[in-house]
Amino acid sequence: MDIQSNLGPVCDILLAANNVCSLTGAGISAESGVPTFRGKDGLWKTYRAEQLATPMAFIQDPRLIWEWYDWRRGIIASKEPNDGHKVLVEWEALFPNFALITQNIDGLHQRAGSKNVIELHGNIWKQRCTSENTLIENHDVPLEEIPPHCETCGALLRPHVVWFGESLDGSILQQSFHLSAACDVMFSIGTSAVVQPAASLPLSAAEHGAKIIEVNPDPTPLTDFADFSFRAKSGEFLPVLNDELKKRTHQKKE
Ligand code: OAD
Repeated sequence: MDIQSNLGPVCDILLAANNVCSLTGAGISAESGVPTFRGKDGLWKTYRAEQLATPMAFIQDPRLIWEWYDWRRGIIASKEPNDGHKVLVEWEALFPNFALITQNIDGLHQRAGSKNVIELHGNIWKQRCTSENTLIENHDVPLEEIPPHCETCGALLRPHVVWFGESLDGSILQQSFHLSAACDVMFSIGTSAVVQPAASLPLSAAEHGAKIIEVNPDPTPLTDFADFSFRAKSGEFLPVLNDELKKRTHQKKE
C-alpha cells in the first residue's frame, strides 16, 4: 500500500477517533536490535520453543531456562527504545483515549516513556515465586543467582512470562478485549498475528466496527482484514505518520 497517498485518509480517521488502540509485537523492537520470534533471524529458528518456553521445560531444568532468560535480559538491557516506541509515547497525549496492548516482554515501551502498557505475555524484568505467586521486580544483568530463589520462602522463582500451554492473565485479557471492542481505530504493529488470543484482538475490533491499520514489512493473516496495511518498518513509518498527524492537529487549531 502506497504510504504517501494513504497518509491523508489515515490521519482523517485518526483525528476523528475517540478511542485508539495499538497492539504491538516483537517487530516494534526489531529496529532496537531485539530478535523477533519468527522470521529469518527469529529466536524460534535457533531454539525450539517446546524445549525452553514451557512449564515442563522449567520443571525439568530450571537452570537452563534461567540461563536462556538471563541471556535474553542481557540483550534487551543493551538496547534502546527506537523511534516507533517513542511515537506511541506521544500518542498517549495526542488521542483522547489511547490504549497500548503489547505481546512484548522486553519493557521497551515503558523505557521509552509509555505510562499505561497492558502486557499480555508478562515482563522479563519480573520474577514470580512458584510457591506464593508474589511478583518481584529484578533488573540485575547478569542475574546474581541462577536459578533465583524467593527471599521470603526460599521457593524457586520463575520468569513472569506466559509460556506455551499456559493461559494469559484473565483480567488482562478481559481488559484487552474490552478496549478492542470499544475502539474506533486499532493498530497492529510488528506482530505476525498468529499467536492466540492476541491475534484475535484486531479481529474483535473490526467486528465491532473499528478501522484496522497494520504496520509490518511482511503480510500477515490479518492483512486481508485490515483497512490499511503498510509494508514498512514501524521505526520509520510511525514517525512519518506522527509528523503528518501533528501538522494536521496544528492546522485544525489555527
Ligand atoms: P513474531 O516474531 O512472530 O513476529 C514479528 C513480526 O514483526 C513479523 O511479522 C515481522 O514481519 C515483523 N517485523 C519485523 N521487523 C519489523 C519492523 N522493523 N517493524 C515492524 N514490524 C516488523 O513476533 P510476535 O507477533 O510478537 O509469545 O509473536 C507473538 C508471540 O509469539 C510472542 O509474544 C511470544 C511468541 O511465542 C510468548 O512468548 C508467549
